[in-house]
This record gives sequence, C-alpha cells and structure tokens, in this order.
Amino acid sequence: MIKTSASLLACDLADISGELSRCKAANVDWIHFDVMDGAFVDQITYGSPVLKCVRRATDMFLDVHLMVNDPASQIKFFAEAGADLISFHLESRSDARKTLELIRSFGVKSALAVKPGTPIEEAFPLVELCDMVLVMTVEPGFGGQGFIPECMDKIKAVRTEIQKNGYKCELEIDGGAKLNNTADIVAAGADVIVAGSAVFGGDIAANVKGFHEVFKEGAAKAAWSK
Ligand code: DX5
Ligand code: ZN
Repeated sequence: MIKTSASLLACDLADISGELSRCKAANVDWIHFDVMDGAFVDQITYGSPVLKCVRRATDMFLDVHLMVNDPASQIKFFAEAGADLISFHLESRSDARKTLELIRSFGVKSALAVKPGTPIEEAFPLVELCDMVLVMTVEPGFGGQGFIPECMDKIKAVRTEIQKNGYKCELEIDGGAKLNNTADIVAAGADVIVAGSAVFGGDIAANVKGFHEVFKEGAAKAAWSK
C-alpha cells in the first residue's frame, strides 16, 4: 500500500493537536516531522521536546526527518520522545552505518536520506541496513518548493536496487509532491509520499482523498509491485 506522510512544517503549528486529529480523520498514514538545526540547513524548526508532545497527542506513526549536522547525537532524544522511524542525511557528519545501527538499537525504524545533488549509488551499500530510503526531491530546508524532475531517475534507481536484492525497504520521496505529479512518482517506484503544502493547504480530507486516488493511478502504471 502506498502511504501519505503529512509534513507538519506546513500545518498551523499553534494548533498541532487539531491538525493531528484532522490528519487522522482524513486517513493520513504517517506524520512527517522535519527537524532542522540552522546549520545543515538554514532554518531552525523544532526538536525532541516538541516530538514528545506530538507523541502524547496522537497514536499515528511518527516519521522523523533529521536535517542536522550531527544526527548520531540526537538519536537517543528522538527515540525516547517516541519516533517510530528516524531518517538522517548521508551528507551529514555522522558515520552512516553506525547511525543506522544506533537507530535500530532503540527499536526504531532506520532510514537514510539523500539530497538531490548526491549520487544515489553512494547509498546502495547501506540499503541493507535501512527500513526506508528517503529520496529528497527538493533541496532540504523549506516547504512549498517545486519537485526537481531530475530526481525521477533516482527514484527508479532505488526501486530497482530494492527489487533486485529483495530488500524489505520502503522508498519515501520528500518535496514538491502534488496531485498532478504523484501518479508518476509512484509509478517510478516511491511507496511513501511526503506532502506538506499539498495536505495542509485547504481542506485536508479532500486533499488526502485526492492523494489516495492518484496512488491507485500510479500503482496501475507501475512496472514494480510489492
Ligand atoms: C523540506 C522538508 C519537507 C517539506 C515538504 O526540507 O523536508 O518535508 O516540508 O513540503 P512540501 O510538500 O510543501 O514540498
Ligand atoms: Zn522532510
């Protein structure tokens, strides 16, 4: 099943619990929690104390995306705050292999994120340690940007790598997913679609229903299946 992961970056942060309830009622699959440290990327968002409150407010699956220079030092905090999955960047300073193992040692799902400019093959030796690979389809740092079309080939390459080796690994894309490009993104191989502005802009229930419809369209066109 293809999943939506709603990025809280685009929600009304003064009403997180209301937004979480609306997401749940709209059948959003996961909640995407973007952590930025003002160093790996320019902005600063929110950290593990906020995640802890989100955890208390919902039983939904919490998909934490660390855009920070030193993710290894943060894993304990986010795992204890209630993350279900933690992704961090291959381009960060932490040792990727050790960090993936560290995440799993807390019983949390591990994921490696790759920026648009990084050759995706650099992630391949690590995919066996990943529960998910996150292909960034915009430059990390801001919500509301346009999908970078060149990333489509990366999605296909990761899907091929997963299928070829029989890995039990999900493939998430993050950035610029809209109703008009998501069928192609799914057909290319993604099975978790992060969407911020396209979920929280306007009516959440109608937006999510739209995504579930284009997922079916994309899956029907896909050359791969789970
Ligand atoms: C960007 C973040 C994304 C962002 C997606 O650095 O990682 O999760 O919130 O937002 P949209 O869907 O609006 O592109
Ligand atoms: Zn993200």
